[in-house]
Amino acid sequence: MSVSRISTAVARSSPRSLRAAAPLAVSTQQQRSMADASTSHAGFTSPFHRGTGNARDTTVMPNWGKYKTGKETSNKVFQYFMVGTMGGLSALGAKNTVQDFLVNMSASADVLAQAKVEVDLATIPEGKNVIIKWRGKPVFIRHRTADEIKEAEDTKWESLRDPQPDTERVQKPEWLIMVGVCTHLGCVPIGEAGDFGGWFCPCHGSHYDISGRIRKGPAPLNLEIPAYDFPEEGALVIG
Ligand code: FES
Repeated sequence: MSVSRISTAVARSSPRSLRAAAPLAVSTQQQRSMADASTSHAGFTSPFHRGTGNARDTTVMPNWGKYKTGKETSNKVFQYFMVGTMGGLSALGAKNTVQDFLVNMSASADVLAQAKVEVDLATIPEGKNVIIKWRGKPVFIRHRTADEIKEAEDTKWESLRDPQPDTERVQKPEWLIMVGVCTHLGCVPIGEAGDFGGWFCPCHGSHYDISGRIRKGPAPLNLEIPAYDFPEEGALVIG
């Protein structure tokens, strides 16, 4: 026998008075539940239940007054102080981080020592060449004579392959300082040689003049001028 048939049989077998009283008991129970719900917050003055009956009054906001200090300016001063302090600490941390990084990445003292070479110019007589090694490359130092200076300055440089006046290539006319690497394929030219009284590269026949400018041969550019300075009379620092 199915469940529905059993329930129908039980209903038929129960007395008629019981069947009439059942809905009444249910409705009484529902009324009690609603009454309990409506008075469940009777002892609690919630700011969100101030509307009529049990309806919410959404325009009422809680009062946070007791959490305020009473002075708006003191709050702002405190906020500014905290923001300023945190900003200062962050900047200090960032500065230290960057500084540590730069100190770690910078060249050590021995590398810096190799980066610069000091030369005593008093040891180089006029009309002579000296070759020194700087950062693994040869550097030519030429103590030019007055005739060589005149020749270098009088050359019509505008029509040269790599046009450059002599005054742009020297700081002091008597001292010509150049990287001794041919601009063609990197050979080391020979001094006091070639058709122009300067340097000659035997690898493929490039001729440089007494200012180190390319005058003949396959090299495309003048000999390079390195960074240098005369910190005092008779001293030269390359690098
Ligand atoms: S490397 Fe000097 S001419 Fe070729």
